[in-house]
Amino acid sequence: MDKLSLLKTLSSEFQRGDEIAKQVSLPVSTIASLISQLEAEELIEVKREKKTMAQLTQEGAEAAVSELPERKLITALSREEEIGTVLQRLKLEPVALQWAKKNNWVMLLNAGGKTLVKKIATNESEQEKLLEKFKRDSAVNAGEEKTAKELRDRKLVKLLEQTLLFVKISKKGTAALKAETQDKLELANQVTPQMVKQGFGGSFREYDVNAEVTPLYAGKRHPLQLLANEMREILVGMGFEEMNGPLVESSFWNFDVMFMPQNHPNRDLMDTFFLKKPSRANVPTNLASIVKQVQLNGWKTGSKGCANNWGIEEAQKTILRTHTTATTFRYLEKIGKKEIQTPCKFFSINKVFRNEAIDRTHLPEFHQIEGFVVSENLNLRHLMGVFTDFYGQLGISKIRFKPVFNPYTEPSMEIFGYHDSLAKWVEIGNSGIFRPETTAPLGIKQNVIAWGLALERAAMILFEVDDIRKVVGASTDLQWIRDFPELPEVLR
Ligand code: PHE
Repeated sequence: MDKLSLLKTLSSEFQRGDEIAKQVSLPVSTIASLISQLEAEELIEVKREKKTMAQLTQEGAEAAVSELPERKLITALSREEEIGTVLQRLKLEPVALQWAKKNNWVMLLNAGGKTLVKKIATNESEQEKLLEKFKRDSAVNAGEEKTAKELRDRKLVKLLEQTLLFVKISKKGTAALKAETQDKLELANQVTPQMVKQGFGGSFREYDVNAEVTPLYAGKRHPLQLLANEMREILVGMGFEEMNGPLVESSFWNFDVMFMPQNHPNRDLMDTFFLKKPSRANVPTNLASIVKQVQLNGWKTGSKGCANNWGIEEAQKTILRTHTTATTFRYLEKIGKKEIQTPCKFFSINKVFRNEAIDRTHLPEFHQIEGFVVSENLNLRHLMGVFTDFYGQLGISKIRFKPVFNPYTEPSMEIFGYHDSLAKWVEIGNSGIFRPETTAPLGIKQNVIAWGLALERAAMILFEVDDIRKVVGASTDLQWIRDFPELPEVLR
């Protein structure tokens, strides 16, 4: 369709853009673009109005085709029946009765201790009328707000604020039509080979970048992925190299090598997912025998150890890693063997698993930003400096540290970040300096500062969400994800 034929269909009364689109059987986006061209040439008048629109949910669409539960009730009700039995017989929820009562379709009678329902009217309800109307026209007009909200509360419709276009032909438009000055309306859309060869004396259509179009939800990166990418850039900028390790780990690399006794509560089924197949992993035997001595008597470290017994079978058990520190230790082994030179700095942003109940701040699968630095004379101030720098670059400037206990670091500290909309400090990471009991067996003499930070917690602060389930998992808020800009302002 061209502009002229659209102009011909317009009337001198304001008409809604989506209705015009329906009349000429074209998508709203096509109409919107033609309208903005006509508007630029003042051939039409355009009015924009904010309006509430109702979108039928799946349940609403079904109800609009079949019937609302209260209608089913009233249709099936012939005589006076006892409340409970009638609902059971018709397999209806108590809402059916509630709305039948509100519609004044039924009346409740008391008979010998029993409550009976009696049919008194069957007129079409406001909700039924509106639902029927929404099938044709989704605008919520004056006087319909209350019923629309009831439908929304019943989860039958979603109410959305939309800007509606109203269009009518202008005086200039009418005149133009009269004169049928077709060529005045014909602006060229693009340069053709013919124009290049023969020259072109006409005018080109201007692009209107403000033209209203329907949103297109194309594939895009997930907000968490965007954040992880941003963090990766920052860490690489700070001189870190990326490391990678397996999701399925041996208990050895996840626990034993970190001076965690085999009866440590972290290892039991509360937190750790153990694997049935394969149930065992290979463990480096030389290192394992040193780790055993460290745990039993401290080996050469001067430590008293941490356990009374130690068995290789327990260390071989396979698990889903509970922290990416397992990967850190795989790299520390390479560093001890001089396969990687020191000083060095590594990071990873990867998934970990813990058997935890899901709530607004916990997920059984989440991501850690793991990192470590191996060098001479590293201390706690270096560790704090890394976080201040890293979180500062991300835009989290309010951070705080708190001493904590870890089996494998001493000293250790938790990192808290301030969550503005929750108005409280939330834990965003854990860190420390590895104990000699963990580094000496690997042949590392320097200090190692290390940390594990939670990607999802940083996301909550930066995205200003107070429930992580909105961002990931089965109850993700898809609209929120769709509306999330590819380059979030918070990250630039
Ligand atoms: N592994 C710890 C956790 O999952 C974080 C950590 C890593 C702490 C390295 C100290 C050193 O919470």
